[in-house]
Amino acid sequence: MKQLEINKIYNGNYFNLIDAIPDDSINLIVCDGPYGATTHDWDKMPNGIQAFNLNLIDKFSTKLKQGGSLYLFGKPNCIDFIDYRPHLTLQRKIVWYQPSRLAQGKTNYTNNYDIICYFIKGKKPKAFNLDDIRISQMVELAHRKRCENVPSVVNGKWEKTKFNGRGKNPGDVWGDIKQLTYKSKELVSREALNTIQKPLALIERIILASSNENDLVLDPFCGVGTCPIACIKNNRDYIAFEVNNEYVIESNKRIDAILDE
Ligand SMILES: C[S@@+](CC[C@H](N)C(=O)[O-])C[C@H]1O[C@@H](n2cnc3c(N)ncnc32)[C@H](O)[C@@H]1O
Repeated sequence: MKQLEINKIYNGNYFNLIDAIPDDSINLIVCDGPYGATTHDWDKMPNGIQAFNLNLIDKFSTKLKQGGSLYLFGKPNCIDFIDYRPHLTLQRKIVWYQPSRLAQGKTNYTNNYDIICYFIKGKKPKAFNLDDIRISQMVELAHRKRCENVPSVVNGKWEKTKFNGRGKNPGDVWGDIKQLTYKSKELVSREALNTIQKPLALIERIILASSNENDLVLDPFCGVGTCPIACIKNNRDYIAFEVNNEYVIESNKRIDAILDE
């Protein structure tokens, strides 16, 4: 299979395209693919979402450069009971908190978060640009006034609260970036709401943290193109796949609009 061009969205199936990506060539993979939870045909998983994800993790581990990162989106159980450890190192499970999600039934607690599993290839990330993703420190400021000395979570010693004027680490519960609603300006269509389109700010945080300028990002399930747009805005190269041609057309329209800005 011939090598793929960069900065292009391929209309096709991930399973037919992924082998055209050379091994050890990708800095970052943003995988917002099937969750195994909706009624879309592509989301139906006869062997379960975990087996599907293990297959992805295995394949992605060969495509990533050493120190490259994978962010895998899913429901809270998306990597339960599978052994990903021979392939990649799980750095963190990030909770994308959705307080406004509607109640689902009356016999259990509503699920108010998605999981974003952050993996790296090897033991040390090639990029983790904390300064590019810091968030407001306001909560810490108020807390600091009340209590100057706090015990360190690392060694238990009481120390002065560390305070960085540029903002704080966003941590692993992301409640500051809201899911799109039908009123969101960036929403491309009602059809893309909830199960398809992600907020640009969410994908930008990942791109900024885990890649550097001119790095190559792979989005194997690109929907309406949020990740390619985040790449263009932040000077990263990308390769993206999407099986639904209407979404590819929509993505290219969004890309043309930002290139014209
Ligand atoms: C959750 S959406 C991605 C949304 C994207 N992050 C965005 O913000 O627009 C998942 C996408 O994967 C696509 N898809 C599902 N299975 C696929 C496959 N085997 N190959 C390529 N694309 C696929 C679907 O058509 C859908 O658009």
